[in-house]
Amino acid sequence: MKRRAIALLLALAVAAGVLPLQVCAVDSTQKLVAITFDDGPGKYTDELLDGLAERGVVVTFFMQGCNAERYPSVVQRAYEAGHQIASHTYDHPYLTKLSTSEIRSQVSKTASILNEAIGVSNTYMLRPPYGAYNDTVLSTIGTPAIYWSLDTRDWESRDAEKVYAQIVSNVKDGDIILLHDLYSSSVEGALRGIDALLEQGYELVTVRELLRRRGVQAEAGEIYFSARKNTVNLPGISQPTVTVTAVDGGQLVTLSADAGATIYYTLDGTAPTSGSSVYVEPFVLETGATVKAFAALDLNGGRSQVTTAEVELPRAQAPVISQENGQVTITAVGTVYYTLDGSEPTEASTVYTGPFQVAAGTWIRAFSGPAQAGQRSSLESCLLYSARGNGFSDVEPGSWYYSAVDAVVANGWMTTDGTTFSPEEALTRGMLASVLYRLSGSPDTAGTLQYSDVSDASPDWKAIVWASEQGIVTGYADGTFHPDDPVTREELAVMLYRLWPDRETPGAQQDVLDGYEDAGSVRAYALDAMRWAVGAGLIKGTSETVLAPEADTTRAQMAVIALRYQAMVQSASSAADESGEGSGQ
Ligand code: NI
Repeated sequence: MKRRAIALLLALAVAAGVLPLQVCAVDSTQKLVAITFDDGPGKYTDELLDGLAERGVVVTFFMQGCNAERYPSVVQRAYEAGHQIASHTYDHPYLTKLSTSEIRSQVSKTASILNEAIGVSNTYMLRPPYGAYNDTVLSTIGTPAIYWSLDTRDWESRDAEKVYAQIVSNVKDGDIILLHDLYSSSVEGALRGIDALLEQGYELVTVRELLRRRGVQAEAGEIYFSARKNTVNLPGISQPTVTVTAVDGGQLVTLSADAGATIYYTLDGTAPTSGSSVYVEPFVLETGATVKAFAALDLNGGRSQVTTAEVELPRAQAPVISQENGQVTITAVGTVYYTLDGSEPTEASTVYTGPFQVAAGTWIRAFSGPAQAGQRSSLESCLLYSARGNGFSDVEPGSWYYSAVDAVVANGWMTTDGTTFSPEEALTRGMLASVLYRLSGSPDTAGTLQYSDVSDASPDWKAIVWASEQGIVTGYADGTFHPDDPVTREELAVMLYRLWPDRETPGAQQDVLDGYEDAGSVRAYALDAMRWAVGAGLIKGTSETVLAPEADTTRAQMAVIALRYQAMVQSASSAADESGEGSGQ
């Protein structure tokens, strides 16, 4: 029961966003190994650090104080890269042959040199030179002593191939491996060996981290050889989590990590080191930033992988662009930048200061700069002031119905709400009656018909009465008109056919429908009208082979068809004019 309660609490905490989703489990199968380099730093240590950085691997350096004095920047570099810095005495004596005060002097002198090189006061595990120790040595050094469990004998062979072979043929989980960074053969052999260990699934850790993860509390006066026989498995140090919350003036950044861990972070995208800022409490970012952070339990020897998080500021609200007869007004809280030539606006573009006039066919593109601290620029808004003065946000220039929409609205054949056209919306019977009525010149009508579902206050009322009296769009036997019902494409053909003045003479051959695979689904009563409409080029398929007679007519289709119908009327009347002129000669 207890376990279930904890699981439930965890689930609730995750759901509430309190805990990071990635909960580190204890991985009992993870193989660990600690590689150590003695006697340096030396002239090959930088090359070694390059190779370790490339592989994202940390090791432990048992440094001689006398060499750390010569290469302080190498010591600092190794420390900041997350390697464990440890002591190998000042100048490599047999500690077993020294007095206790001489031993203490070897230890303290080296510690001061290392402290100075890395810039902070630290504790340093110690490896006795030659592995020579006794009870006096252990009780005098005041720090844990570290031996090894795998000796590569690299100082003897001076052969990279042999160093490599020693590592890969003898390695065991929990090993502490002895190498020396004084020889280029050791550096080369070690890096090749590390590649092989990584391939075999080993995690390379510092000595301090190896002991911690195997449950060993390293204590002064004790000597440690390996963690080969330790069966405890603790997880590595968790990466910090980054939580971002919008607040007034910016983004509040909260970093969190394992209990007891210290978090080091940068905000400029560079890799964090022990020299980076130490996280104390949540902070507010007023600009965007890349947060990189790692957590360290003991900085000298155990740290997590680096977490990277992009923090972006919220955007200002996009400006609202409106126009009336080409008079453009832009509303926004921040400074508005705009262009009128179709190009993308930038902060170098014109700044909006008040309403201005544009010519037909102008694209107005604008964005708002930050309206307050902690914001970035808005997304872009745009408006087209069309060729005839209609700017619809849902009618893109270049769409197949663009110019037809422009024309039918300019001619007053179809009505809109002024900002959108709803091209994909179905044409209703009421709308159709109005389009046909206006196409016919909005003739006067006595207006005696009544429908129970059409109010005489409706803007379509007169058109509906006219269309009914002309027998073009007729009502139902129960005295209703169903003004909001959609009009199918074959119904549209029928009604246009009825409207066409010369309807006794179909303008097309019977076979005009043959190319459409769904021609057979045209209902009998609509067949003549559909043949006429397709033959006249008034209605075309929704594709080359699909006529879609039962599909709803869209408002975009109506716009295009209305324009074609008008063109037919005009060409018929000019043909009549021409024949009239001809007869006059
Ligand atoms: Ni040594």
